[in-house]
Amino acid sequence: MSRDSFGSRFGALVAMAGSAVGLGNLWRFPYLVGENGGAAFIIIYILLSFLICLPIFISEFVIGRRSQKNAYAAFRDLSGGSAWRWVGLFTIIVPLVVLSYYSVIGGWSVEYLLKSVTFAFESASQSAMSTMFSDFVSSTWGPLLVHTGFLLVTTLIVVVGIKDGIEKFSKVMMPLLFFMVLAIAIYSMTLPGAKAGLDYLFNPDFSKITGKACAAALGQAFFSLSLGFGTIMTYASYVDKKENILFQSTATAVSDLMFALIAGMAIMPAVFAFGLNPQSGPGLVFETLPFVFGQMPAGGFVAILFFLALLVAALTSSISMLEVAVAYLVEEKGFSRVWACVVLFVICWVVGAICSLSFGPLSDVNIGGGNIFDFFDNLSSNILMTLGSLLTVLFVGWRLKKTDVYDEFTNGGTLSRNAKLFGVLWFLIRYICPLAIISIFVSGLL
Ligand code: PHE
Repeated sequence: MSRDSFGSRFGALVAMAGSAVGLGNLWRFPYLVGENGGAAFIIIYILLSFLICLPIFISEFVIGRRSQKNAYAAFRDLSGGSAWRWVGLFTIIVPLVVLSYYSVIGGWSVEYLLKSVTFAFESASQSAMSTMFSDFVSSTWGPLLVHTGFLLVTTLIVVVGIKDGIEKFSKVMMPLLFFMVLAIAIYSMTLPGAKAGLDYLFNPDFSKITGKACAAALGQAFFSLSLGFGTIMTYASYVDKKENILFQSTATAVSDLMFALIAGMAIMPAVFAFGLNPQSGPGLVFETLPFVFGQMPAGGFVAILFFLALLVAALTSSISMLEVAVAYLVEEKGFSRVWACVVLFVICWVVGAICSLSFGPLSDVNIGGGNIFDFFDNLSSNILMTLGSLLTVLFVGWRLKKTDVYDEFTNGGTLSRNAKLFGVLWFLIRYICPLAIISIFVSGLL
């Protein structure tokens, strides 16, 4: 049986952008900006995204497209069967962990979409919104139900395959997502008092830059670009050999950044216009924003648009996480696609259910100073993704042959711009990325 692949350049591009643009942009980025001092954080984030994360993205792209295999086989074959294949296995297991808790938040966005359709936020007080959120997440069945629904839809899209499932879904949803978020941003910026929000986003105060902020920015850049997991590698393995890796990678990184900034412009001006605090952490989107929606003119409709966008963004990302392990089970373990999806659904459902219950019945279980959910989120975005990204650049920079990387990056020497830039890229991959990852990681610990 021949391997499934993306059917077009645009399809491959929106699928990658779909993986990158997700809860990371609409939920995580805005609250991290709020917690880490606004514009200065954004500037570090942009620098790290392009200087460090783009080369890592390209490294993953090279591994995937060179091998045209699942992440495990890619590391195994490209390293001549050495122990590097365990890194491949690592990049398959991590996205499953993330998918499990991602699906819990995906479920929350389903719940909030349903709430917004019934105009549940209309003129409620701020404390009523907080209570609504904490009552919901700490209950048992509601969050489990929406987690199940979210994971089920994710699985159904992946079952269908690359071209007809993942690619088709992303092709329809990504443009829609863009216009939804853009519309909210434009509306939000016209609210009286919005300027304070824009200042917060775009007027840097460099005294706010700390080691911790840099570490948070790097972690967020990894998360947002789906790095350190087998995701980009796996998607890249479905990309045609004629495509330009530099173009596809840069286009993905630029759209990811654009979405994050537009999400910031949709959220911050509205938050400031109503005199609220942007530092409310993970609850920003589910507690602060619904209150804002309840206050603003036509806010009921804006709320529907926003939570629909959140759901779509989450889905185009969750499918990419699931595909990593599906590709592995199908190609290495001889599973049928359907069977692989069923098995993975069950695993992720169970782990996700534990995460979901950690806000309610299991909230007393404390690992490393937080609940189970916090533990998974911290472990994966701060430690596992960093480790995965570090190992990936080390693999490309120090294990692969320079001529092979050159060959893949330049399509056999036929892309002259890529050939010219290769020296810089190689230097970044070999030296700058590993050093930067290690030093930022350490400075975040201190
Ligand atoms: N990039 C996605 C987001 O921003 C999350 C993600 C991480 C997706 C890792 C795939 C792999 O929400």
